[in-house]
Amino acid sequence: MLKRPRRLRISKAMRNLVRETKIDVDDLIYPLFVVEGENIKEEIPSLPDVYHFSVDMLEAEIKEIVELGIEHVIMFGIPGEKDACGSEAFADNGIVQRAVRKIKEVAPEMNVITDVCMCQYTSHGHCGILTEKGYVDNDQTLEYLAKIAVSHAKAGADMVAPSDMMDGRIGALRNALDENGFETVGIMAYSAKYASSFYGPFRDAANSAPSFGDRKTYQMDPANSTEALRECALDIEEGADIIMVKPALSYLDVIRRVKDNFDMPLCAYNVSGEYSMLKLAVKEGLLNEDAIMEAVTSIKRAGADMIITYFAKDIAKKIK
Ligand code: PBG
Repeated sequence: MLKRPRRLRISKAMRNLVRETKIDVDDLIYPLFVVEGENIKEEIPSLPDVYHFSVDMLEAEIKEIVELGIEHVIMFGIPGEKDACGSEAFADNGIVQRAVRKIKEVAPEMNVITDVCMCQYTSHGHCGILTEKGYVDNDQTLEYLAKIAVSHAKAGADMVAPSDMMDGRIGALRNALDENGFETVGIMAYSAKYASSFYGPFRDAANSAPSFGDRKTYQMDPANSTEALRECALDIEEGADIIMVKPALSYLDVIRRVKDNFDMPLCAYNVSGEYSMLKLAVKEGLLNEDAIMEAVTSIKRAGADMIITYFAKDIAKKIK
């Protein structure tokens, strides 16, 4: 036999030598949930080992993250009050705005990305302004999203990540940021964001489930992948710096298609349901913990350059 593929699997060192995909701590973006109140660090029931933090409790967490070598966080706020137009989302003293200022104070080098959306902040739980008939009014919503992004930039965010799936939001955000002197603040676009059931644990954590209906008139149909290419093309045209596919594990084929089609940095969001399923299976002893690394590696192998994942701390510890 001339060809014996097993020769390259003979030892750990040999396997390391020919390994094609490596997860680096630089690739990982860790999601943080901040809540109103004081002295709060509470485990989120739907997301084992992930916590709600009040702003005063962020310092220790940020120090731990820095210690682990994680350089990127994405922020989600859970406001004290909601209304029809999500006013708390763009309040100068809103929960995310205060958290960003705190993080920048504790760790000025941290790359702080903020999720820009309205669903946690609106009384109806939809990602925008509603018409009388309960349809999300695209163009009116753009004005609000722009205000949110500018207020995050003012607080010190390095990059904003619109997750609402309105048409034209990247262009609207880019214009608003530039007009307000924030031309160096980047946009990470949730370009191909699907109407997925895998967001369930997040919606519990963020108290953001829609009070009626679903998100299918704005988020994408899970059956489509060519449409993902159109969404990415639009976001790139409108000025996105990084594009994203979300969720990740059930959409590895979409990640690969997007990577092959666009010469852009690509992020994948390993979402809450994907996390909780695996985490619980490992905690219950149904799966060996190596399953976590295998799953996250598959996202990178599919073509993602960076990964938003609740596993970031677990992986950083493992790499260390
Ligand atoms: C806000 C938003 C959601 C997620 C990120 N930003 C929820 C949704 O669209 O319903 C989900 C993240 C996750 O499941 O981990 N629109």
